[in-house]
Amino acid sequence: SLKEREAWATKIGLILSMAGNAIGLGNFWRFPRLLAANGGGAFMIPYFIALLLLGIPLMWVEWATGRLGGKYGHGTLGPMFYIMARESVKPRKALIFAVIGGMIAFSVTTLLNSYYIHVIGWTAAYSIYSATGAYYGVDTVNFFFDHIKNFQMVMVTWLIPMILLFIAAFRGVSKGIEAFNKVMMPLLYVFAVLLAIRSITIGSPVRPDWSSFAGLNYIWKPDFETLSKNFWVISLAAAGQIFFTLSLGMGIIQNYASYVRKGDDIALSALTTASLNEFAEVILGGSIAIPIAYAYLGPDVVRSGSLGLAFMALPNVFTSMGEVGRFFGTIWFLLLFFAGWTSAIAMYNYLTALLEEDLKINRKIGAVLVFLIYLMLGLPVALDPTLTYFAELDNWVGSYLLVLLGLFDVIVAVWLFKPNNLWKELHEGALIKVPTFFKYVLMTLTPLYIIILLIGTTIDYYNQGIFAQSDPLIVQARIAIIIILILGAIETYLAISRKYREELAKNQV
Ligand code: PHE
Ligand code: NA
Repeated sequence: SLKEREAWATKIGLILSMAGNAIGLGNFWRFPRLLAANGGGAFMIPYFIALLLLGIPLMWVEWATGRLGGKYGHGTLGPMFYIMARESVKPRKALIFAVIGGMIAFSVTTLLNSYYIHVIGWTAAYSIYSATGAYYGVDTVNFFFDHIKNFQMVMVTWLIPMILLFIAAFRGVSKGIEAFNKVMMPLLYVFAVLLAIRSITIGSPVRPDWSSFAGLNYIWKPDFETLSKNFWVISLAAAGQIFFTLSLGMGIIQNYASYVRKGDDIALSALTTASLNEFAEVILGGSIAIPIAYAYLGPDVVRSGSLGLAFMALPNVFTSMGEVGRFFGTIWFLLLFFAGWTSAIAMYNYLTALLEEDLKINRKIGAVLVFLIYLMLGLPVALDPTLTYFAELDNWVGSYLLVLLGLFDVIVAVWLFKPNNLWKELHEGALIKVPTFFKYVLMTLTPLYIIILLIGTTIDYYNQGIFAQSDPLIVQARIAIIIILILGAIETYLAISRKYREELAKNQV
């Protein structure tokens, strides 16, 4: 093409943006909740195993996929998969794998973000509520439900992240996304460290046997007994969290990696951003919500692992701190806001790139269209304060489709592209040598692990009765998923068959 493809302006900007992509509500909200609900120290064991066998190897695969795609002018997964798959199958067959990949990535980036941005909106609202002391002296559970029933307030605070997302995507990769990340990510770390220090030094303000140290002990003391009693449930939750937290199986790591300059390191960069995410998750994320809730609210509240930890339980803690609690409450919700926003922009940009590169719509117009898409898809979430629609989307999109896409990562980028090609691609310009051990893990253990995870989750959903549910809002969520999957398949098919028309035609026997 005539115009040079966009690229990250600086190395630090790339690293902070990729860290921003991965570090999200998953680190500070989802992780503590799962950790607490799944036995604390029992959860950590399968969590670290999944990090080593699933998370880090797939991170390398996705970075390599993305940078390779970028060389061909692609920032979306469908065309990237096409290029890789045709290494060992005929173009028309490669197209099938590409359509599957593009379809899933499209549905994750549209639907997951459609509710995720709402949660970011709640954090915006709660930053204001904390600063003004709005939840002081009231029942925080009712307060939360009153908030999500307040359609006007929900809409206004939802527009805050939405407009910022639009501005960043409109300005482009280096001037928009990178610039925002360079401000928000350092602030995020400062807030997280302040909160972690406050949490750990809080002592025993309520009862001598409730303390933040008891909370830390709960999460860091390896608990094999609880693990063996609930082996499947805990292991599935831990592996699912690895996918979610590293932003794997979404297409967005590949999209960001597609803006890495040719011949720039990806091997060390991938490892660095995964490490930054894990530091933010297990060290910072683990040292805020759980220890502080343990000290103020006790083990029962912590172990319940309720969704309300961030929005219902912690406000009580801030209230108990008195006036200074307003400060800590505000930085807690701002921390969540920055964490969430810097992830949501990756999904927003995926769709902007899709319009720009697959469908040849100018980036600025594309940024407007994506705004309208999220506005439309987010409306049913705002209109359902029971969060039934939201939860059903999360069951399928936030916990299932991404794992399925992870399987296709391996099938296409490892098996079909061929492990040796992948290794060569990964090491182009690399600042480290990735141990060959991981190549063999990727060929065998990783896909096996993913298949077990998919089967296990299916059985778990069946046992929970998720398949049998028929609430109209649940049906509505399922219809939305199916429509978006179909649209994603059509979009990918059109994009690839247009660009690679000649070689696809030649292949027609
Ligand atoms: N890795 C993100 C997190 O931990 C997941 C995510 C990315 C969610 C992008 C939404 C959008 O929160
Ligand atoms: Na994360």
